[in-house]
Amino acid sequence: MPADASPGPKGKFIVFEGGDGSGKSTQARVLAERIGAVLTREPGGTAVGARIRSLVLDPVHGEMSDRTEALLMAADRAQHVHERIAPALVSGQHVVSDRHVASSLAYQGVGRGLGLEVVSDLNAFAVNGLSPDLVILLGVDAHDARDRLGSDLDRIEHAGSELAELVQETYRGLAAADPGRWAVVDGRGTIGDVARRVDVVVAERLGL
Ligand code: TYD
Repeated sequence: MPADASPGPKGKFIVFEGGDGSGKSTQARVLAERIGAVLTREPGGTAVGARIRSLVLDPVHGEMSDRTEALLMAADRAQHVHERIAPALVSGQHVVSDRHVASSLAYQGVGRGLGLEVVSDLNAFAVNGLSPDLVILLGVDAHDARDRLGSDLDRIEHAGSELAELVQETYRGLAAADPGRWAVVDGRGTIGDVARRVDVVVAERLGL
């Protein structure tokens, strides 16, 4: 089949992952601007997702069960893939997302203790076959990340440093298990320092 008639996505799907306060939102924005990609995020990348985001992160809902949290994150993602990510990729645009499935594996699967397998299965349903071309893990020291967060914490950030450490450890494990898809980038230094490291990885892996 000629290349131009082949089905499936034509744009590249790049995801930034990292703990809270890792600087990934800034780096996602900088990269998206440089390569002219659609910039988006989870939770909250669609109108439906914005409603889910405000519900799932509201510190007032201390009673929310871990399973409910996982289902809401997956519901946000299902809508995001369906409405924003997949259509953009098919139309040839690149997409940069601030968080995706690995966030649920790290926060809900391990951080909340629901298990990687069950959260992975739930998310397979949500993403309907889509997977990122590149996942960039921004590594920062847990202490620096906590400092960057300040004091206005959402419901999940309130869970504290034990959860943050489990999340970091899980990310490192996921990256080590799938080095073809993941790249670990040193998140220390200025925005420009980190952006240059990201650019090198994106050029090497995807030729962008
Ligand atoms: P994020 O928007 O990255 O946080 P902020 O912009 O405040 O730094 O993510 C919001 C929170 O949601 C964060 O604590 C991580 C959490 N989260 C999960 O627990 N599971 C998920 O699947 C996703 C996407 C986010």
